[in-house]
Amino acid sequence: MSTSSSTGAEGVMEGSNAKRGHWSSRLAFILAATGSAVGLGNVWKFPYITGENGGGAFVLVYLLCIAAVGLPIMMAEVMIGRRGGRSPVNSLRLIVERDSLGRFWPIVGIIGVIAAFLILSFYSVIGGWAVSYVGTAASGELVGKDADAIGAIFSGLVSDPGTLLLWHTVFMALVMLVVARGVSSGLERAVSILMPALFVLLLVAVGYAMTTGHFGEAAAFLFQPDFSKLTTEGVLTALGHAFFTLSLGMAVMMAYGSYLPKNVSIAKTSITVSVIDTVVALLAGLAIFPVVFANGLEPGAGPGLIFQTLPYAFGQMPMGSLFGALFFILLIFAAWTSGISLLEPLVEWLEEQKGMNRTVSTLGAGIACWALGIASILSLNLWSDVFPLGMFSAFEGKTIFDLLDYLTANILLPLGGLLVAIFAGWIISRQALENELNLSAGGFALWYNTLRFVTPVAVAVVFIYNLA
Ligand code: TRP
Repeated sequence: MSTSSSTGAEGVMEGSNAKRGHWSSRLAFILAATGSAVGLGNVWKFPYITGENGGGAFVLVYLLCIAAVGLPIMMAEVMIGRRGGRSPVNSLRLIVERDSLGRFWPIVGIIGVIAAFLILSFYSVIGGWAVSYVGTAASGELVGKDADAIGAIFSGLVSDPGTLLLWHTVFMALVMLVVARGVSSGLERAVSILMPALFVLLLVAVGYAMTTGHFGEAAAFLFQPDFSKLTTEGVLTALGHAFFTLSLGMAVMMAYGSYLPKNVSIAKTSITVSVIDTVVALLAGLAIFPVVFANGLEPGAGPGLIFQTLPYAFGQMPMGSLFGALFFILLIFAAWTSGISLLEPLVEWLEEQKGMNRTVSTLGAGIACWALGIASILSLNLWSDVFPLGMFSAFEGKTIFDLLDYLTANILLPLGGLLVAIFAGWIISRQALENELNLSAGGFALWYNTLRFVTPVAVAVVFIYNLA
């Protein structure tokens, strides 16, 4: 996150917070938050879980979760961060101490640190896939290949632990490099160029998808709900993904909010970030599913879905090797900015609580996370039929990789989000919230009631259904 001592007009530092600096503007915050939010969750995870969960009805529930759960919680996280003005754990501590609200709440920050660490361990493995595909596309290997040959390239990659380890290491090193140096304003500038570029290349892929003759079928798959295909686990996955894709439930947005100038509207900025994130995910879906249907592929193919479809599309279009390589470079970049926001909380926590310097804490946290990632790598090949919690029916057939994903996205993030909603909706005083958000009366009432009633009930009901 940027502590740039503000070049923009809005960045004039205020009050007690002078030392920490502020985002140079509302735009800078949007860029950084979008950099965290838009990542593999949008381009890799959203399409594959949509395919696995039958399409339209799942997408509808996901969109509802973004609007009724994700957005209100994002506003709450940004608000708590700005009010506390510190790192998440300390912001929570400060707010509860100032108003004597009890000692329990900083646990939200702790859950976040743990969830972030677990997510990054497998996120980096998938980031590594993207790294490997840059070379695959650039070498011209994809040109004119049929879907089977493209599928074989992917199977070859995931069945080879050595290659996976190499690219996982490269990705983790990229993340550690930036975090060790302190997240700088250079990143902000890079996001502002590369994110729009990723958007344009997704449009190119959608453009190709329109020529396949199966675009209508794909649009129907994505947008015509068929509720008979939706399971209770699908609803939980949609809810969990709303947290995952918006980077919620683990205090990342709190950390960013602590740098936001007081005169910026939290509601407007949060809406902007949520809309951009959602549009990117839907575009990825529109690029991928026409290729799936045109080639008789399986929508529920799982985590490899985008790596079995987009490379095919790039292999068919003019200048595909160039576009393909560029696309994967930009995907790496999107994953990189997200990965940074996943490593940062633990590093910051080690610095604050354990007094380590940044280089040491980055090395320690990064290497530990890298090592855990090896378990995810092996569960794609040598350990592909190791199901550590297979004795519980809920975890039947789940590899270590699947379990890490499930535990974080479907349990820890919604739990963290639920606590944030309760904390902001029921513990902080209404007066303080009104001051911080500065909304119209109607806007405030809408947010407040959603956060107090709709959000916690939705999360709790989905949880209970899945336990039962
Ligand atoms: N939102 C990112 C994505 O969609 C992943 C991510 C980054 C994340 N930071 C996070 C998820 C914090 C949860 C919490 O790829």
